[in-house]
Amino acid sequence: MIIGVPREIKDNEARVGVTPAGVKALAEAGHTVLVETQAGEQSGFPDESYQNAGAEIVGDAGHVWGNSALVVKVKEPIEPEYVYFREGLILFTYLHLAPMRALTDKLLESKMICIAYETVRDSRGTLPLLTPMSEVAGRMSVQVGANYLEKERGGRGILLGGVPGVPPAHVAILGGGIVGTNAARIALGLGARTTLIDMNLNRLRELDDIFNGRLYTLASNSYNVAQVTREADLVIGGVLIPGATAPKLVTRAMVAEMKKGAVIVDVAIDQGGCVETARPTSHSNPSYKVDGVVHYCVTNMPGAVPNTSTLALTNSTFPYLLRLANLGARDALRQDAGLAEGLNTWLGTLTHGGVAESQQRAWTAPANVIK
Ligand SMILES: NC(=O)c1ccc[n+]([C@@H]2O[C@H](COP(=O)([O-])OP(=O)(O)OC[C@H]3O[C@@H](n4cnc5c(N)ncnc54)[C@H](O)[C@@H]3O)[C@@H](O)[C@H]2O)c1
Repeated sequence: MIIGVPREIKDNEARVGVTPAGVKALAEAGHTVLVETQAGEQSGFPDESYQNAGAEIVGDAGHVWGNSALVVKVKEPIEPEYVYFREGLILFTYLHLAPMRALTDKLLESKMICIAYETVRDSRGTLPLLTPMSEVAGRMSVQVGANYLEKERGGRGILLGGVPGVPPAHVAILGGGIVGTNAARIALGLGARTTLIDMNLNRLRELDDIFNGRLYTLASNSYNVAQVTREADLVIGGVLIPGATAPKLVTRAMVAEMKKGAVIVDVAIDQGGCVETARPTSHSNPSYKVDGVVHYCVTNMPGAVPNTSTLALTNSTFPYLLRLANLGARDALRQDAGLAEGLNTWLGTLTHGGVAESQQRAWTAPANVIK
């Protein structure tokens, strides 16, 4: 199969869909890989590294899209890329179609086969192609928070780990899923006093075990959230109710009660945020203050560390990509029900219930179109 890897052109997107290691494995399996020039540059992979791995470097995006049977990307296509859509072309990428009716229309009109990273499931029912980005954001949240706690960045001038004779900072983590667990690991590693709140008691039991009692765990209720945020130097928001807007666990009144110069990193901002005073920010203007509390609410935190993020993402996406290339879309989807859950459009038919529900339109289950 001929596989195309275009350069991402969405604002601030520095990741790339395939690494040189992926190119090598695809080439060894007999496939041809067309990589647009500079596609991996910002992730730390120059053209030369792709060429050495067996890719053909191509000067323009039109050539990549036009000559490939499968295009692998990171973000959803944006308008200048719509002209490249054509019947039967397989697109493997993050799509987040639910709120994007115009893109959905285009993909259906042009009869593309679109498999969205964010809806692929594994045998345990989790979302394996979303997990790596939550791992990155969770670990990064403590690093970012530690930075903003410095006086120069507007924080209260406190070192997370303290020093002998001086107590460490208090980190409060809301949500004990992937983001929360990874944040806890780094916060504890840096020596902070760390408390994690979740509504799922079994999850708290697991975390108590994993961290050997070093992590303080608390059941989620507004009393506990108010108390913990009042005492915290750094609050990290990582709650998620799948498919829904994040619950506002930290109210405006709780923020007003926080220490001046404390920091909130609301990772859940991509789902609306779990702090009432949080609003989406970008890497070019990442923070602002409310009631003297620094808020950092960047919606695509992994974008700041494209090298790590590209490697983490492609570690997870590559096995699926290789199967799609080896078997073709129909057989790969037939053989893996979890991958089939990633199918969002098939040759003009909408095939994802969640997208259909958000856009109030008809859909057909993947099993009915790929048989
Ligand atoms: N900003 C970014 O760049 C970025 C990057 C990756 C992930 N995220 C977002 O971070 C959020 C968390 O992702 P995740 O992968 O950790 O999700 P997850 O499903 O693994 O974990 C969510 C946790 O929240 C808990 N929870 C739900 N409601 C709660 C409540 N009322 N009180 C306390 N806990 C509650 C759940 O029990 C679960 O343990 C998501 O919104 C995700 O999209 C953002």
